[in-house]
Order: sequence, then structure tokens, then C-alpha cells
Amino acid sequence: MSEGAIESVLQEKRWFAPPPTFAAKARIGSYEAYRALYDRSREDPIAFWEEQAAQELAWFERWHTVLDWQPPQAKWFEGGRLNVSHNCLDRHLGTWRRNKAAIVWEGEPGDSRTLTYGQLHREVCQMANVLKQLGVQKGDVVGIYLPMIPEAAIAMLACARLGAPHSVVFGGFSAEALRDRLNDAQAKVLITADGGWRKDAVVPLKDQADKALAGVPSVQHVLVVRRAAQPVTMVPGRDSWWHDLQAGAAGQCPAEPCASEDVLFVLYTSGSTGKPKGVVHTTAGYNLYAHMTTQWVFDLRDEDVYWCTADVGWITGHSYIVYGPLSNGATVVMYEGAPRPTNPGCFWDIIEKYGVTIFYTAPTAIRAFLKAGEHFPRARDLSSLRLLGTVGEPINPEAWMWYHHVIGGGRCPIVDTWWQTETGGILISALPGAIATKPGSAALPLPGIFPQVVDLNGHPVGVNEGGYLTVTHPWPGMMRTVFGDPERFRRSYWEHIPPCDGQYFYFAGDGARQDEDGYFWVMGRVDDVINAAGHRLGTMEIESALVSHPAVAEAAVVGKPDPLKGEDICAFVILAEGQTPNEALVQALKDHVVQEIGAIARPGDIRFAPALPKTRSGKIVRRLLRALAAGSDFSGDLSTLEDRSVLDRLREEV
Ligand code: WTA
Repeated sequence: MSEGAIESVLQEKRWFAPPPTFAAKARIGSYEAYRALYDRSREDPIAFWEEQAAQELAWFERWHTVLDWQPPQAKWFEGGRLNVSHNCLDRHLGTWRRNKAAIVWEGEPGDSRTLTYGQLHREVCQMANVLKQLGVQKGDVVGIYLPMIPEAAIAMLACARLGAPHSVVFGGFSAEALRDRLNDAQAKVLITADGGWRKDAVVPLKDQADKALAGVPSVQHVLVVRRAAQPVTMVPGRDSWWHDLQAGAAGQCPAEPCASEDVLFVLYTSGSTGKPKGVVHTTAGYNLYAHMTTQWVFDLRDEDVYWCTADVGWITGHSYIVYGPLSNGATVVMYEGAPRPTNPGCFWDIIEKYGVTIFYTAPTAIRAFLKAGEHFPRARDLSSLRLLGTVGEPINPEAWMWYHHVIGGGRCPIVDTWWQTETGGILISALPGAIATKPGSAALPLPGIFPQVVDLNGHPVGVNEGGYLTVTHPWPGMMRTVFGDPERFRRSYWEHIPPCDGQYFYFAGDGARQDEDGYFWVMGRVDDVINAAGHRLGTMEIESALVSHPAVAEAAVVGKPDPLKGEDICAFVILAEGQTPNEALVQALKDHVVQEIGAIARPGDIRFAPALPKTRSGKIVRRLLRALAAGSDFSGDLSTLEDRSVLDRLREEV
């Protein structure tokens, strides 16, 4: 095996061809069509992207250089001028889309609102004028700390209109997390709300913001959206109500011609160690990449009702709720709430109510639906759906099959989309009308993307051999730097795999293998790899084997120090509804993994857990489970955890 390789043990043989009726209408309707596009991008990436940029975006001035690549620094479309809010709004106004629904919003308490492209444009212009009045100029950073309400998209687009980078901080983050991010970005203005609805309660955003702002000298003005009728303290001279200022603002505001490489936004992502990184995305490359990938992967048509359940506080919300879909003139559903004990079926209600055709969510949500039981989705009419997607983690084949049968009625292709905050948009995914899917695999690279699975020396590993998932050529949507810290950008992404023969490798931490058909199987974060008796095993495959047992709803595996094997496999298992933990089940699960994968993956220790520690975007924090398995203390940054009380319950019960 190559140096630093990871053994792959998952054997998944099921596959699903694109349904012929889907393919017949799809934008890219055959494998040959995908191949032709991909090969063209491979032969001449510069000409390929140049052509897309000319055809798909509106420019105020044309670029003179498509790509200037001084590794690891890429500049795309230098010399060009454009505006992302113009591309998402103004260019649709001269067409019939002026009166098309852009955002269809549903609040958690059941209130709703629809904004056409014409209305959205007007509100964005008003807000851009308000920001101008507050002194915001091109290049000034605006913090956004809002619930999932239309004002979040309006605020982002208003910033883009002025060329003022936004930095959206997820509304579930604490005051400290908000403070650190605003300080790092040196935000001048903060846009927040009195509160937002989440799981039947009001999150007091303004109170959190006030706590944070006590330690953020750069913020001079605060705009407050009234959403939840929550009492708030307004600081005179600093705080204003959004609706007060909006009422007096003009509904026209010219879109600032931005240079291609002007910063569009900074979005913080937490590394496993150290302070969060401000991932910087710029104007032209990001807009083009979000636009193209939305078209390719979601096969978006004008009559679609598209719903991505992410929060705008994550990159998925930036690229696939706001910029990608609106740039394409789509109708986007936006939902404030989340499934909760009082309404576990709320997603299915929304699909039925609005006739959603494309549904994009996370594996963690799918596993929660699976656990809640299929009677909830079965009680609703989901026949409008034509395409399903997942993002955020590897999806276990069993969860995939459930999604396929119960939600997709067996007729909808599933696109498993692999990407990162840093990549700006989807890099690896099936195209639903062109590429057959295999449960658990993200399938093939998108046009213009050249990934390679390599060992620590940058040498490609063999077929079905696990290694480091890298990208070998710049693409327009890639991050440009870490805000204020170019050295950290280089260190974090470009040095793990050293450049080799002039070839640079972008690497952001995932292990993967490629099968005999070239399909990519993402095996999880390499930081989580388990080294058992000399075998380096990815977490995803063992977890998938456990979840394929009918008694199991969710599982997380970690390594635990073992004097003989180096590490033993310790599995934390959440049981399906109605199952009770007992010794016989422990044995049955161990046998099941041996049968599915082989003796090397047999967990020495199986523990039944009430819940798993997850980040606020739903990723399992295996680092904390490793500490629990080893009997050591929880350490490191806990601020990104969704629910800290899970740690106490794990300590007591597991
Ligand atoms: C993981 C989310 C497997 C991966 C867009 C990546 C996935 C990290 C997938 C980025 C997928 C995301 N299959 N793993 N389809 N999608 N990941 O920055 O580990 O929140 O590096 O971006 O999520 O997470 P981020």
C-alpha cells in the first residue's frame, strides 16, 4: 500500500441509472453529454470557463485575463467588472421573471411570505440605500446575524450590491462566537433581529448581539429586524429598526460595478483546532461557479420549486439558497424552523404545501427522519418531488436507500454532493440526468474539476485504495485566502501534500477512494481515521455497516487506545425506535460488522448512546467521542456544539 493510504472496506454494489423520463428532459441528459463537457474542460479549462462566463453572467466590463495562477493564489477574470446582486436580480427584471416568485418563505409559527423578483429587487435596493446612509462603502464588512427570514437574503444581496463584503454568522452561534467573528472581520455594521423562531422557542438574537458587541469596537451601527415581537434594548445612536429606515429609503439603487476579484463575502469555518478561519470568496469566480453548479447538479428549470433546508449561515445557504438559484432565476423555498418533537413532519408539510420539486438536505437530517419513522412522510403527498440531494457528510447506503424509497418514491435521482466552505460550490456529484448513482458515493467530478486521490507524497493511489482527496487545478469558486492571514491559507490547504513536479494539491482534510468506474467514495475526515492493528480505516464505512442493521438508527465510530492493536474500534450507537439495548444486541452488531466488512473492522467496544455530539451544521464531532472512549476529559473548542448537554448525558449514560 502507498504511504499514508487508508484501507477501504465498504462493498456497495447497488447502482441506479438516471430514470429515462428524467434524462429525456434534463439539461445534460446522457453520460456521453457529460463526458463531452468534461473532456472539453479538461482539454482547455481556460477556454471552457471563459465560454461559461460569457454566456451565463452579465458583465459591465469584460475581463482581459481568464486565470492568473500563482500557486496558491488564483485570480479569475481579471479586468472584468460585474455585480452579483445585478446578476441575481436586475437581469431577470427585463423578462417575464419580474413577476415570478423568487423567495417563498415559511416561518416556523406558520406565517408565510412570497417575494417576486421585482419585489425582492426593490427591497434589496432600499436596504442598500439604508446601508449607504449608515456610511457603508465598498470594501466595508457588514456582519449578518439573522434567523432564516427573507431579510437574511435581502441583507446579503444589499451588501453585494454595494460591493461591501458580508460575513454571515449562523443565528445559533453564541455571543462569544459572534464577537470573535465580528472582530476578526472588523465589521462596521451588524444586521440582526429581535429574535427568531427555532424549535418552538424564540432565540433572543438581539440580546446575544448586545453581549457580543460589548467587545467589538469596530461596529458603529446595528440594524434590527422585528421578527419575533421580542422586547429588546435599543442603544441610541447605534441601533435602528430595519423597518423604520427602510420606509424612508428609495427603491432604486444602482449596482456598484465590482472588480472580479473584489471580496464578496467572508464566511467563518471552524477548524478542528485553533480559531475559526475566515474563508474569503470573491465576486466573479464565485458567482459563476455557484451559477453553473446549480444548473448542472440540480438541473434547475423555470417551473421548479427548489428547496434547500440549510441555514444561510452556512456555505450551503450562501451558494444554494441565495446566489446559485437566484442567479439562475429560480423559485426558492426558505424555511425558518426545523423538525422538532411537536412537528416531526414539518418538512413533508412544506413539500406538499408548495409542491417542492427539488429537495436538498443533509444526511444527519435523513437519519433523524429514518429514526422518527416513515409514517410522517407517508402521511403527505410528496409526488411533486423529482430530484433529491444531500450534502455535509458521507451518506450511509442504508439512509440513502430510505431517502430513495420513502421520500423519492423510488423515482427521484439522488445527487450526493461533495464540497466544502472553501470550495465555494459542489465539486463532485452525479448529474441527475447523466450519471448513474451508487448509494454512498458522490460519483464523478463536475466539469472543470480535476480531483485526485493521492498518498502523502502526491502520488496517485490505486483503484479502490483509500488516500487523500485533493484537487489539482484551480477552479473559479475556490476560496482565495483566509481573511487577514494568507500564510494560514497556504499552511492549511496547500502544504499537507507537498507540490510535486510543479503540480500543486489543494487538500482540505477528507479521505477517499476511487472505484473501478472512477466513482469517488468519501471516507470521512482523515483526522478521524482509526489505526487498528496496522489497518488505517475510515469512519464512514464502519458506520455504514452498523446503520445497515435494522436495530440501528445512527452510529459513530472512533479509535480508542489499545495496548495490542494500537487502536481498537469503539462504536457509539443510537438505536432505532422501539429497540432496547442488551448484551445479545452488542454481539449481534459485532457479528453484523464482521459479516458486512470483515474481521478487521470488528468493533471491540459498542456503547449505546442517547445522542451524538454534533456541530450546529450537523456533523458528528468524533474528537469528543474519542475523549469519552479513552476516558479523558473533553477539551478544545466546544463553542461550535449544537447542544452541550449531550456531553453530560454521554458521560452519565455511556
Ligand atoms: C464533508 C459543506 C461526504 C466533508 C458543503 C467536507 C461530505 C466537509 C459531503 C465540508 C459529501 C460535505 N460526502 N462528505 N457529499 N459533503 N462533506 O465546509 O468532510 O460545512 O470536507 O461544507 O463536509 O463541510 P462544510
